[in-house]
Amino acid sequence: MIDYIVWTDKLSVGDDVLDSHHREIFDILNSLYGLIQSQDATQTMDEIWQKLENYSLLHFSHEEKVMDEIGFPLIEEHRRIHQTYIREINLNRTQIYNSRQQEIEDVFHFLKTWWKNHIRKMDMKYSAYLAKSGER
Ligand SMILES: [Fe+2]
Repeated sequence: MIDYIVWTDKLSVGDDVLDSHHREIFDILNSLYGLIQSQDATQTMDEIWQKLENYSLLHFSHEEKVMDEIGFPLIEEHRRIHQTYIREINLNRTQIYNSRQQEIEDVFHFLKTWWKNHIRKMDMKYSAYLAKSGER
């Protein structure tokens, strides 16, 4: 099966741990997307969706710690965006369980676009800082 969302070197933020988190999130999204195609996967879906939330939280807290350590000035704005995402995925979780296929596709489109845009636009801002700080 072709992966729904693919990590490439262009998405590297220059930190091995944070890159590995992003790759893991993409893997979780691919598993979820695969499950959606199969019937009767509600239980597994639940587990993997929970994993998406837990892993996102773990990743965000580490990323915010890194931004804090390097004195990244836009940390508060970035933190708010992370919080909004967590609220959104909780809403989307409910939506998925009551939805038709098209609406589910919309949720996945949101997740895919959110992660790619977030890494490209927001994460790349601290990435530039990280490179300058030279400590890592
Ligand atoms: Fe981020």
